[in-house]
Amino acid sequence: MSYQNILENIEDNILTITINRPKKLNALNRETIQELHNAFKSAKTNEEVKVVIITGSGEKAFVAGADISEFADYSPKEGKRLAADGQEKLFNYVANFPKPVIAAVNGFALGGGLELAMAAHFRIASENAKMGLPEVSLGLIPGYGGTQRLPQLVGKGRAMEMIMTAGMIDASQALQYNLVNHVTEVDELIEFTENMAGKIMKNSTVAVSAAIKAVNANYEDGVNGFETEINEFGRSFGTDDFKEGTSAFLGKRKADFPGK
Ligand code: COA
Repeated sequence: MSYQNILENIEDNILTITINRPKKLNALNRETIQELHNAFKSAKTNEEVKVVIITGSGEKAFVAGADISEFADYSPKEGKRLAADGQEKLFNYVANFPKPVIAAVNGFALGGGLELAMAAHFRIASENAKMGLPEVSLGLIPGYGGTQRLPQLVGKGRAMEMIMTAGMIDASQALQYNLVNHVTEVDELIEFTENMAGKIMKNSTVAVSAAIKAVNANYEDGVNGFETEINEFGRSFGTDDFKEGTSAFLGKRKADFPGK
């Protein structure tokens, strides 16, 4: 598929999606959100794709937020629809994606940019990254899941402070806050993230997918995460990957998972 605002590259079973509006610091306009949705949707069924890395083009920004120029004259109704559509099409879609999604945060991750990074399953940042939710400085609040996912990751007090001050934190503070798992040098970010993807891909893709579902269940209203875990655990016993994983272990050889 051809896109105007994103680039796709599949290599060694890793799909790298690069948001590519560098002149606008990769700000998320409607078209970009739709393209990202389409890219994730086709990656879901593409058997070649085992892990997705999402990053921004250039060294300056991952994503500097939702495109402010697009919603400057919106009514309350239009604003509500913008948030609801975005959450459904992209942010929740990524969070619940059945294959691992890693955000490689290569610069500013502000507003919708940080919300996108937080929707990913985990985050790795380069040392020049800067993160924040500056919406209240625009007379808004975060609308793409930021008020929910930031406290889950950094705790309520830190999230409140970041949201209320609209300030930015740097990569080392983000590491200290558990907002990112690792910080790398600028030119090592993608390689480091790909190595991480490689470690994940050595394991059963079916089990990894079930694990994503079980972990996410803890954050869903009205869902009992322990029950989800029991169900997914039970289902694992019916997979070819389970048979291969256990027989490889008992046979003292490396598992070659069929991914079923
Ligand atoms: N929406 C739309 N355009 C954006 C944008 C956004 N969120 N963030 C940056 N841009 C555009 C700027 O308008 C500018 O476009 P122009 O060259 O046509 O004027 C271009 O990207 C470069 O940004 P600029 O502000 O000149 O870069 P800078 O290095 O001086 O500042 C930031 C970088 C990230 C601090 C600054 O761009 C910024 O504060 N962006 C908005 C962040 C924000 O509030 N995000 C939350 C949105 S809800």
